[in-house]
This record gives sequence, structure tokens and C-alpha cells, in this order.
Amino acid sequence: PLVSMTEMLNKAKEEHYAVGQFNINNLEFTQAILLAAEEEKSPVILGVSEGAGRYMGGFNTVVKMVEGLMEDYQITVPVAIHLDHGTSLENCKKAIDAGFTSVMIDASHHPFEENIEITTNVVEYAHSKGVSVEAELGTVGGQEDDVIGEGIIYADAKECQELVQRTGIDCLAPALGSVHGPYQGEPNLGFKEMEEIGNTTGVPLVLHGGTGIPTHDIKRAISLGTAKINVNTENQIASAKKVREIFAADSKVYDPRKYLGPAREAIKETVIGKMREFGSSGKA
Ligand code: G3H
Ligand code: ZN
Repeated sequence: PLVSMTEMLNKAKEEHYAVGQFNINNLEFTQAILLAAEEEKSPVILGVSEGAGRYMGGFNTVVKMVEGLMEDYQITVPVAIHLDHGTSLENCKKAIDAGFTSVMIDASHHPFEENIEITTNVVEYAHSKGVSVEAELGTVGGQEDDVIGEGIIYADAKECQELVQRTGIDCLAPALGSVHGPYQGEPNLGFKEMEEIGNTTGVPLVLHGGTGIPTHDIKRAISLGTAKINVNTENQIASAKKVREIFAADSKVYDPRKYLGPAREAIKETVIGKMREFGSSGKA
């Protein structure tokens, strides 16, 4: 069923695993992720960036596509449709009105008091509709769609505690050294801060930039209260690699099913690997 993130993340935090947020870009990504979740008996979060939402036609198209697939595939595991890095109250409302079950308001680049004010307004609207809210503090490095991290800024533990208390958000993404897209060298995650923020805020923590984080860091983050891990680039790389292979092997291919079908399979395999690594397999 379509659900918000609240219950799945609280359960994950309690039982020490993380639910993957896998970003969708088109029909094949959505199929691959839903099939992987059902096969693994894992809860799953479909991440939709504002750019990807526009690409697919709009938030209504996204919701109806997901609903259609869940019906045709007879999906039984919990699924959340989540706005990833929402940039304004207006866009969060649009997503919620279209049927998204969860939103992220990314007001982390605003001054702290403004972040609180924007996030409070999103929570008020979202919670009145049973929709969960994720907020962010600090800056994730790298670039994702319209979201450009101007260098890495570590979240401040005191501000995290205050943001959670004053806004009533359901989960928090404190930027602690992670990067959107590939890492240059090993990531340097702030585990000390993560532990403190996990303890003082009490809410499940979210780790952005899941692509390229080594397994030992993933395990450590989960042990410190991380209950949601976002992965996008890794699936994009897996799918592009498969398409390149197919075109390289046969220059006469033109039926999209002949290259997007195998690409879908590659995404599914990648997602299954992540679900096992995050420990969410068998938890639905
Ligand atoms: O919000 C989405 C992510 O944080 C994905 O990051 O593309 O590095 O896996 P990634
Ligand atoms: Zn992100």
C-alpha cells in the first residue's frame, strides 16, 4: 500500500536497519524499484526530485503511474512517494495535492529562522493530510538537479535539536559530509555529530548521497540512528552502463524495449543489493 514514511522509518530506527529512497526518472526506474521491493519483501521510498517530476510530466503523472504499477504488479509492501529536495512550500503543497505521501522541504540554504518558518508551514499542511515531512540542515556536497551544494557544510547539532522540536518534522537529514553524485576519494562522514544528533533529536536520520558510501560507513550510520538512505546516481550509472553495452554490441538496435528492458533489470539488481546492504529485506 501507499503510505507515509513515518511508520516505516520509526520501525527501521527501532530495529536498526535503513529504508532506501531510490529516485525515479521514468517508467523503467519505477518498475525496477517496485519489483525489487516486492521480491525482497522490503519497504521502499520512491524519491522524486522536482526536476524528475517535471521530466515525467508532472506530479499527477507520477502518482498515477505509481498507483497503476502497484495495482498491476500487486505490490503488497509499504511504498512511499516522496518529494526529494522540495524547494518551496508551494511545491510541497502541489506534490501533496497530487497524492504524494511524503515530502522533503530543503530550506537548508536559508538562514536558520527562515528554515524553521518554511518547514513549520510545510509540516502544518502535510500533517493535516497524513503526509510525512523530512527537513535538512547543513549542505550536502555535489549537485543534484537544481540543488547545487556550495561545498560541504556540516549540520550543527544544537540547530538540529531546535529544528526538530520547533517544527515537528518526522525525520531529519543533517548534512555531515555526504555528497550527491560520485565521491572524490573516500567520504568523510561526521559520525560523532551523527550520534549526537540522533540522540538529541530522537527522530530517524536521513543520509543523502548514498552512492559510493562504503558498506562499513553505511553500517555505522545505521547503528547511530540513520533509518533512510538516498540512492540515485548508482542506479543511473547501472542503467546507462547496460544501454552502452547493448549499443556497443549491436549498432542496429532501435526498439526501446531491447535496451530499456535490460536497463530496468540492471536497476532492479542494484536496488536489491542496496536493500540487502541496508538490512530492509524481509522487513515489510
Ligand atoms: O536525494 C537524493 C540523493 O541524496 C541521492 O544521492 O545520487 O549520490 O546517490 P546520490
Ligand atoms: Zn539528496
